[in-house]
Amino acid sequence: MPEARSSWKSNIGFLLAAIGSAIGLGNVWRFSYMAHEHGGGAFLIPYLVALLLAGVPIMLLEYGLGHMEKGSSPLSLARIGAKHEWLGWWMPVVAMFGIMLFYSVVIGWCVNYLFFSFTLSWGADTQTFFFSNFLQLSDSAAHLGGIRVPIAFATLLVWVLCWLICFRDIRHGIERASMIFMPALFLLTIIIVVWTVNLDGAADAIKNHYLHADWSKINLFASDPEARMKAGKVWAAAFGQIFFTLSLGFGIMITYASYLPEKSNIARNAVITTIVNCLFSFIAGFAVFGIVGFMAHSQNVPFGEAIKGGPQLAFVVYPKAISMLPSMNVLFGILFFLMLVIAGLTSGVSLIEAFACSLTDKFDWSRRRVVTVICIIGFLGSIIFTTRAGLYLLDIADHFITNYGLVLGGLLECIIAGWIVKAVILRKYISSQGSKVPVIWDFFIKFTTPAILLYLLYISLADDLKNNYSDYPTDQLILFGGGWLLICLIVALAFAFSPWKPEKLKRRHLPEEDELLV
Ligand code: PHE
Repeated sequence: MPEARSSWKSNIGFLLAAIGSAIGLGNVWRFSYMAHEHGGGAFLIPYLVALLLAGVPIMLLEYGLGHMEKGSSPLSLARIGAKHEWLGWWMPVVAMFGIMLFYSVVIGWCVNYLFFSFTLSWGADTQTFFFSNFLQLSDSAAHLGGIRVPIAFATLLVWVLCWLICFRDIRHGIERASMIFMPALFLLTIIIVVWTVNLDGAADAIKNHYLHADWSKINLFASDPEARMKAGKVWAAAFGQIFFTLSLGFGIMITYASYLPEKSNIARNAVITTIVNCLFSFIAGFAVFGIVGFMAHSQNVPFGEAIKGGPQLAFVVYPKAISMLPSMNVLFGILFFLMLVIAGLTSGVSLIEAFACSLTDKFDWSRRRVVTVICIIGFLGSIIFTTRAGLYLLDIADHFITNYGLVLGGLLECIIAGWIVKAVILRKYISSQGSKVPVIWDFFIKFTTPAILLYLLYISLADDLKNNYSDYPTDQLILFGGGWLLICLIVALAFAFSPWKPEKLKRRHLPEEDELLV
């Protein structure tokens, strides 16, 4: 007997869960570093344009599709047409095996650092501590060099926590956890931001490096072709960041919206989710730029020398700054890493949920059993990223999945929604649920957004082929990155291959399309 489909208890519960998925590790440091690298305040322009041209339209699309078809991404897409089902699988499979396997390890690092905060055990040289003592990084991606036990333990803890949250149905599991975690996350962030901006040197750094705009970096019409090319990359980075930060292209938002009751204001929810997420990034940027500014000021070095990218920002720069604080360093460290752990966990559970719901929708397996099995497999899969080569593997997997997997998922989604379901039908459906969607949305979904995503794919590919992508040898890249995506595709095809019970594919009773179209 299949279990009845759960639903959100309240709209605010849904919103907090969706915002929890969107706000993650990427908001705290990925955004800030990108802003710094790509022209400071000027980066906000491509970021906002990307939000309007891709973020909001695709969020509406995913919410609309999930709500209209009342299913996880495979079920929703299979209801639209059997030949689209593979995409419905590919997205959550990539989410689960492409992202969650390494995402859980990074949350595991945060858990380790949360404990280190109690004694500030990273010492004075935080760079050596992170790479040599903590990660014990091997010399290349090909040398795994054995498991780092503290990282593996913390990763296990992360999977156990996710399991505990996902184990129960949506309203008693993810919704309840989000109702506690999200207010806590907002509170922690406010404390950290207010604390940081009051440090010496913070305000100047925010003014001169974060809010100050270097327009030349985003000028697509510069006369110098080299500058134009660079500006193109900044725009591409902004679109990539919007996709990643809003958790789009994974089937997560489709699944979350499928649990919404009839008559839910989809358009309003989509706008709130995107605005709160991006505002969070913007505000968190004050904390990041502020703390780097404080450090640069204390050490008397230029800001550009003090800031670092990627994981180093949270695990090298932050610990150093925390140790240098005039007072209450331990408390600050605990609050900061706790914030990261919470932000990571609420995103992690959404990655698991998208896959778990796909399986229960199709096979009617018990949710508890599915969640238990995939958490065990997930943990075992994560172990490779807890080895001494973990950082390299993680970097490669992230690069391929963000630049190709995700963008390709979004592109195909737009084509299916825009041309097969027909944008106008989806738009009228969304509008019938509450706030109206403007007609221009059809144009975005059918033309503008897919064209931009195609261009993004082209830029990433051209760049990789020129071998501009860091220092990995091509065979390692192909093996870990391309191979990873290919395996996800094969798994997706296998799931899509088995037949559905015919009654499942009946589309829900919708208002007559003609009626919808008047
Ligand atoms: N949106 C999350 C972040 O910014 C990451 C994430 C991506 C979560 C994809 C779920 C799915 O960190």
